[in-house]
Amino acid sequence: MKDKIILTGDRPTGRLHIGHYVGSLKGRVELQNAMDYQDMFVFIADAQALTDNFDNPEKVRQNIIEVALDYLSVGLDPSKITIFIQSMIPELTELAFYYMNLVTVARLQRNPTVKTEIAMRGFSNEDQQAVFGSGLPVGFFTYPISQAADITAFKATTVPAGEDQKPMIEQTVEIVRKFNSIYGETLVEPEILLPANNACHRLPGIDGKAKMSKSLGNCIYLSESADTLAKKVMSMYTDPQHISINDPGHLEGNTVFTYLDAFCRQEHFGMFLPEYPNLDELKAHYQRGGLGDVKIKKFLGKILEQELAPIRERRKEFEKDIPEVYNMLRKGSEKAREVAAKTMDDVRKSMKINYFEDKQLIAEQAEKYRQQQ
Ligand code: TRP
Repeated sequence: MKDKIILTGDRPTGRLHIGHYVGSLKGRVELQNAMDYQDMFVFIADAQALTDNFDNPEKVRQNIIEVALDYLSVGLDPSKITIFIQSMIPELTELAFYYMNLVTVARLQRNPTVKTEIAMRGFSNEDQQAVFGSGLPVGFFTYPISQAADITAFKATTVPAGEDQKPMIEQTVEIVRKFNSIYGETLVEPEILLPANNACHRLPGIDGKAKMSKSLGNCIYLSESADTLAKKVMSMYTDPQHISINDPGHLEGNTVFTYLDAFCRQEHFGMFLPEYPNLDELKAHYQRGGLGDVKIKKFLGKILEQELAPIRERRKEFEKDIPEVYNMLRKGSEKAREVAAKTMDDVRKSMKINYFEDKQLIAEQAEKYRQQQ
């Protein structure tokens, strides 16, 4: 039974990087090609990006095409799935407004993702005592509600996303339950679909810092040239105690090994490093001492180049016809809007705000006033 409805999205704040790729994009393409779904939607979350970039609309605008090109270059295929732009679907904003009635301020304040993001963005500056200080824009504070609208508008059952999105899905499920219990069965509870490989949940940046992110300048982008890719891999953080080759090396926090866990497959040894049978043996040698950083970096570099070269090539092809990429987004947005409008009809009916469609209401009111005459 193909009853799954898959939906996920990305904020257009920069080009997508290999953290997005292992954590999400690769899995999406596999899902897309497995064709085991009723419908699949992938969208560019520009309205969400504006919640913390409202003063920089040009950045969001410029990155729509970048993200779309990244989507196409990894193999997302608009002939199989619907790719759209969030802000082109006004129903999403409409839904979010009604969901706001179902969520308390206290509940939003408990959302761990929102908490860390507020701190990261310095929104609490004006009132250092509290995370939710007076400098926090309401739009940003409430974006988990808007995300619940994104998901439920399409009756999504399955949301492929990273660990950091778990609190968003949990909050969405709560909104769905509350909505359905008050207004009657209308919305569908989604489930998060986490990436299979553990190392993929949170790929660190090349500097070994917490997470790969544009603002930290520690990304390897999907569209990286072969040259820059090689340079970035060579500059990666490894083990500061591994000074000479013969020193025992540590794997913990060693970015090169974290990336190998995420990207290395058995066949890569035969292709690029035949003197080792597998990753465990490579790790053991590194830990014993006698294996240099340059060797493991070169190995990783070859693996990444093999993975990224076809993506880079495909991107070049799509870059030749940019108007067609916008056209694809427009068509996707039209289709998405039809689906969201159907859900909005259901919601209006359940919430009893479908006045003009409600023949019974009009008849009753007419009858009431006729009797009074
Ligand atoms: N919050 C997600 C991110 O930052 C983007 C997003 C917006 C999303 N709406 C969504 C993801 C709905 C999955 C489902 O990456």
